[in-house]
Amino acid sequence: MEDHLPQSVRVERRAVSERESREANGPDWDRYADEYQATHGAFLGDSGFVWGPEGHTEDELAILGEVTGLDVLEVGSGAGQCSRWVRTHGGRGFGLDLSHRQLQHSRRLDEETGIAVPSVRGTATHLPFAPASFDVVFCSFGALQFIRDIDDALADVRRVLRPGGRFAFSITHPTRWMFPDDPGEAGLTATQSYWDRTPYVEVDDATGVVSYVEHHRTLGDWVRLLARHGFVLADLVEPEWPEDHDRVWGGWSRTRGLLTPGTAIFVAHLAA
Ligand SMILES: C[S@@+](CC[C@H](N)C(=O)[O-])C[C@H]1O[C@@H](n2cnc3c(N)ncnc32)[C@H](O)[C@@H]1O
Repeated sequence: MEDHLPQSVRVERRAVSERESREANGPDWDRYADEYQATHGAFLGDSGFVWGPEGHTEDELAILGEVTGLDVLEVGSGAGQCSRWVRTHGGRGFGLDLSHRQLQHSRRLDEETGIAVPSVRGTATHLPFAPASFDVVFCSFGALQFIRDIDDALADVRRVLRPGGRFAFSITHPTRWMFPDDPGEAGLTATQSYWDRTPYVEVDDATGVVSYVEHHRTLGDWVRLLARHGFVLADLVEPEWPEDHDRVWGGWSRTRGLLTPGTAIFVAHLAA
């Protein structure tokens, strides 16, 4: 859920390594974190659990189910809002994020709410936890679409989950890749191939350094990835835009949301 494009960057579509992706996205989220939390913090709620720009919450969707007594890891946890919700519902929520500044916001909210989410700086492809440490791993628009080596990430999620463990994640709905990232009418006309997985890359015009990266996978890619790593897909939730919801978040808006899905939530588990 990025929604900024500084004037000094140019957009390219080209291959990038995992390292380039990480080295771009960590500092990018550091730069953007203050604005992100100022713009979206109230919508997310300090201890709220929102699955996407449509505003559907975990209270409504019950994607994770009962979390009481469970060890729960949020990958790409940002300011830890969702994990704080887990803690207020009896779970032991932990966060992991690539961005130091996002984690500073998490500490700020820990102090302001009195609900602390133990969190660590790291990347989704190298989770710094022992095997079978968690009952649930989830991402709410966290990490997965910023990663090139997605097989490494899924293998690591599988490694840290206990048998029967649940893995749920929301991402930009893969069909959105076909459209310009524009919340208005221009965002309703398909202009690029759904099957073109070439990453979206922003390059700093002044330095030539890659400053932001997103990786696209089709719905079928995600289904095959989950299967390849031993997950059983239980559901694919495509939250509908609420009739009375009129908030613009980057390319997400009522104009587009009433016609096309903006978020996909995959719900999977390991065999018990
Ligand atoms: C859209 S935010 C979502 C955060 C939170 N779930 C929310 O709703 O505000 C995406 C987060 O993913 C983190 N992120 C990006 N790449 C990552 C990676 N490779 N490993 C872990 N976190 C990553 C970013 O730093 C950012 O905090």
